[in-house]
Amino acid sequence: MPGALIHPFSDLTKPEADFINIVSAEGSILTDDTGKTYIDGMASLWYCQVGHGRREIIDAITNQMNDLVTYNTFDPFSNDRAQEVAELIAKKSPLENSRVFLGSSGSEAVDTALKIARIVQQRRGHKDKQIIVRRTHGYHGTNFGGTTAQGIEPNREGWGDLVPHFVEVPNDNIEEVSKVFAEHGSNIAAVISEPVQGAGGVWPPEDGYLQGLRKLCTQHNSLLIFDEVICGFGRTGSWFGAETFGVKPDLMTFAKGVSSGYLPLSGVIVSNDVSNELAEPGFLLRTGYTYSGHPASAAAGIANINLIEEEGLVERANHVGKKTVEGFDALAAEGLIESYRGIGAVWAADIGRDAIPVRNEMIDRGVIVRGVGEAIIWCPPLTVTDEQVGRFIETLEAAAR
Ligand SMILES: Cc1ncc(COP(=O)(O)O)c(C=O)c1O
Repeated sequence: MPGALIHPFSDLTKPEADFINIVSAEGSILTDDTGKTYIDGMASLWYCQVGHGRREIIDAITNQMNDLVTYNTFDPFSNDRAQEVAELIAKKSPLENSRVFLGSSGSEAVDTALKIARIVQQRRGHKDKQIIVRRTHGYHGTNFGGTTAQGIEPNREGWGDLVPHFVEVPNDNIEEVSKVFAEHGSNIAAVISEPVQGAGGVWPPEDGYLQGLRKLCTQHNSLLIFDEVICGFGRTGSWFGAETFGVKPDLMTFAKGVSSGYLPLSGVIVSNDVSNELAEPGFLLRTGYTYSGHPASAAAGIANINLIEEEGLVERANHVGKKTVEGFDALAAEGLIESYRGIGAVWAADIGRDAIPVRNEMIDRGVIVRGVGEAIIWCPPLTVTDEQVGRFIETLEAAAR
């Protein structure tokens, strides 16, 4: 029987008893209500950088809650933790003198970034600059802006009219983007792009693609938004994908890895130029969320970022990648996978057939991965051990045979 709970991205007729009921977790290991254990090969949903059950974050949240559980940061209120986490994120970001807007979910961050891009163009006097360019395979959350910004067609269908003025470009062909700019450049407010496309199937950018986007945006006074919700906080082997690929956007969204999901936290890093455009006495940025700057979420973010720093997890993402590639090379030599792609600690192995049955078998065998099209996706905690990477490879080998 389906229960009261409506699961995200699910068939509402599926009985609640058919879901895997996770009851506890430690490091990269999960346990369900039957006592079965799994390697968390997806860091839950691309977010648990530091692994599960980390006392340092739990204690930071508890300490914060003992002082102040919650209060909003709408004018005239503020709190220490919200200020601190914003400072920390601004310092880690490759955008000098940036400022940080806070929210709870990636979808909130994306919709806020889209709104900021549009309002900045309006304030610069570019009244007709409203188009947002999106990429095929892009995933940007499920609010109306992010739904419209997605390049995954089925996710956009059936909701009635979406947000106007979005144009799609292929994710791998900068010439096509040039053509769109040649035709619509004076009307383009912004381009939104993940540095490495995640939920659409793990697609690293073609060489020079992100640089090409930067150049076109600069030439046409359009803003470049990097959606770093998956890439941010170490996943690609740098603090942000922007650094991994050496491209500076104007706005960067983040969520997931910023708090490793211990409490919901997200936001938008706003470049100095863009924030200056909005900083005018008497002008109110009329957007924000009840939980923007939530002190307990901010405390989780601070403790998580400190752990990533102290444990060298950004560099460790590259080590995880190296071990993963060694395993994939062996599977490719056996003909069990056709190809693979990825960077840092986010990878896709193409098995040349529908990935869902293989994903299901891997879960049965105790390794949680995702299946997208013909690809098995692996995005573990950055603390995953070499032995656990080895078990992932062995399990993929057994399931793909
Ligand atoms: C790149 C990207 N942007 C936005 C989102 C939406 O985040 P949330 O599900 O927290 O709203 C996701 C979620 O997977 C994502 O991968």
